[in-house]
Formats: sequence, C-alpha cells, structure tokens
Amino acid sequence: MDIKSKIDIFEGFPKEGISFKDINSLIRDPEAFKFVIDEFHKIAKALDVNLVCIPEARGYIFGTPLAYLLNVGLVPVRKPGKLPGEVVAEEYDLEYGTNTVEIQKSAIKPGDRVVIIDDLLATGGTMKAAIDLVEKLGGEVCGALFLIELTELKGRENLKDYFVSSLVQYP
Ligand code: PRP
Repeated sequence: MDIKSKIDIFEGFPKEGISFKDINSLIRDPEAFKFVIDEFHKIAKALDVNLVCIPEARGYIFGTPLAYLLNVGLVPVRKPGKLPGEVVAEEYDLEYGTNTVEIQKSAIKPGDRVVIIDDLLATGGTMKAAIDLVEKLGGEVCGALFLIELTELKGRENLKDYFVSSLVQYP
C-alpha cells in the first residue's frame, strides 16, 4: 500500500513554513490503519519485547493495537501531572523552551524489554526522553518505531544507539 497517499498534507499548519503531515486521514481509513498496524507488528515481533511504551498523545493510536497483537502490556509516557503515584520525569529541549514527560515508577522493572512507538520522528527529542525514562527504571529499549520520519531534521542522530524504523519518510 502507498501509505503516503493516505496522509493529508496541510501547508502552513500550525504555523507558516510547516508542512503538516496529518495522520487523521490515514487512521479513518480502516484498510490503511490495519495495514500500518500489521507493518508495525511484523517489525516489533522480531524484537521480543514484553512492553510497548506510548508517548502521549499520538503514540497511543498506534501503540495500543500493536500491544494487543503482541499480547504485551502498555506503558504510557505522559505530560506532567497526569500520572498518579511515584513518577520519574525527563526534561528535553524544544526549539524555544523545554518540555517534560513522565512515566510511573511502577511501570517498568529491570530487565523489561520495551519497544517505543510514536506517530512522528522529527528532532527525536520526544523519543529520546521516553528512552531515558525507560532506562532510568532499568528497562531495555529494543526499538523505536515511527509511522513518519522527517529526515531533514536528523532525529536518527539523536537515537543512533538504538534500532529505529519508520514506515514512511519525508524530507
Ligand atoms: C509530536 C509527535 C511526536 C513529537 C515528535 O507530538 O506526535 O510525539 O511531536 O517531535 P520530536 O521528534 O521533535 O520530539 P506533540 O509534542 O505535538 O504532542 P501530541 O502528540 O500530544 O500532539
């Protein structure tokens, strides 16, 4: 399937100069959605993981059916203040300012094998922060999966120590 043909592009959203890749057009097409989940499943089943980690919010969309197919658990990475109990936090840089993400301490045990999945690899900052959270708790990150990779932003360089796979690439 030509996955790119299912992803609408919005020029100038959310601000001028940005060519926004809209996954909503893909996920409302049941054949396209099934196709990408099956592709993720083929890649992830070789990684022999026991957890799928999902950065808020769009990682949830792809990670949830993937965890179901792999028959493994789900671990959300969330924006601050959303998770009860003890959490660990990681701050990362944006173009202007910083973001923080959190994970529950109880979510990962030493030795857990984890794949992290998100819709988009841009700078890699979000994924690297998620990786750091998993590793802080003793988990092993076995792979980072994305639907879309924006290659010119060189996010892979941020993730060079890890197995990274994207289903479609744009400049
Ligand atoms: C987007 C996207 C990735 C991240 C990629 O999320 O869903 O998580 O940015 O960018 P990066 O590689 O430069 O870190 P966003 O922060 O917009 O949050 P959302 O999914 O909650 O809308």
